[in-house]
Amino acid sequence: MNQSECLELLMKTDRESVRRLFQSADTVRKKYVGDAVYLRALVEISNECRRDCRYCGIRASNRKISRYRMTGREIFRSAQQARDLGLQTVVLQSGEDPDLDISRTAQLISRIKTELSMAITLSFGERSKKELALFKQAGADRYLLRFETSNPGLFQRIHEGSLSQRLKRLEWLKELGYEIGSGIMVGIPGQTFSDVAAAISLFKQLSIDMIGIGPYIPHPSTPLGSRFHPTGIKENQVPNTTEMTLKTLALTRLTCLNVNIPSTTALESLAPESGFEDGLFCGANVIMPNFTPLDYRKNYEIYPAKACLQQTPSQLIARLTTYLSQHSRHIGTGRGDSPHFLTQQK
Ligand code: 5AD
Repeated sequence: MNQSECLELLMKTDRESVRRLFQSADTVRKKYVGDAVYLRALVEISNECRRDCRYCGIRASNRKISRYRMTGREIFRSAQQARDLGLQTVVLQSGEDPDLDISRTAQLISRIKTELSMAITLSFGERSKKELALFKQAGADRYLLRFETSNPGLFQRIHEGSLSQRLKRLEWLKELGYEIGSGIMVGIPGQTFSDVAAAISLFKQLSIDMIGIGPYIPHPSTPLGSRFHPTGIKENQVPNTTEMTLKTLALTRLTCLNVNIPSTTALESLAPESGFEDGLFCGANVIMPNFTPLDYRKNYEIYPAKACLQQTPSQLIARLTTYLSQHSRHIGTGRGDSPHFLTQQK
């Protein structure tokens, strides 16, 4: 699938074309990554952030949320809870926390690794090369850093840094031997269909191993979410809908073939009780149940009405297990590394 074919399919809205697109993505998913759905335990370890991304609810200037940073013991306990339920990957995520204690975090990584034998994914934003190297050495396996949009102008309008800085970090992560994840939001004000098609090509070009795609959800306490944007009504504006997100996900599967693709919480937030399943049948093969302790979870409000704020991970896992068994699929066992990553290692 090349960029112009992608663009053409992104713009199709008739039921039959969309149905066929979803169906092909599902077939390609089955062929390249199989029927297993891998679970990742998401632990949102801190909502402190030095950045001021214009769309994000935990941006530094949002004074309306209460800030937290989990202790090492709390983080370990959450990972252990996930391990007890059979999950073999923990994803530690935070804002770009300026006071993240690097050596204690490295110690925690190696403790989780040795005592719980879990794969460890980090998602701490743009960190220095030295820090990233230290975390890798401590035992981290994977790193998630979405580029959000591949359009440099749009990137700069919604962030403080630049797209090239962001892409540089992805390059470092690859050099350091991480399995790398990236992704975009769909429906950012000012984002065009060509932007989305270009982002999908960039996933391929950068040889990304894991690709997270979610709808942009306006947050009222952010500049981008709080007022009407003239850019939002351009003819070429990509809608931030479930269908548009699923089409992007499907085309990503058709383009990148053997990568891991989560069905995201943002998708579930737009379509509660069915969003995860929708993604799983349009090309996705990973789900990230939330293991953040409930008292903290509500404060990790990157966008409003985030799904799974009350639900225990076991409830979600039970729902998925039932659903998957009715569709000849199952929860994966093992680490579930990205087949794309494994092939590149050979
Ligand atoms: N809507 C949807 N997704 C968001 N993220 C941050 N803010 C929003 C929002 N308002 C996503 C970004 C980030 C990920 C952790 O959450 O894509 O990479």
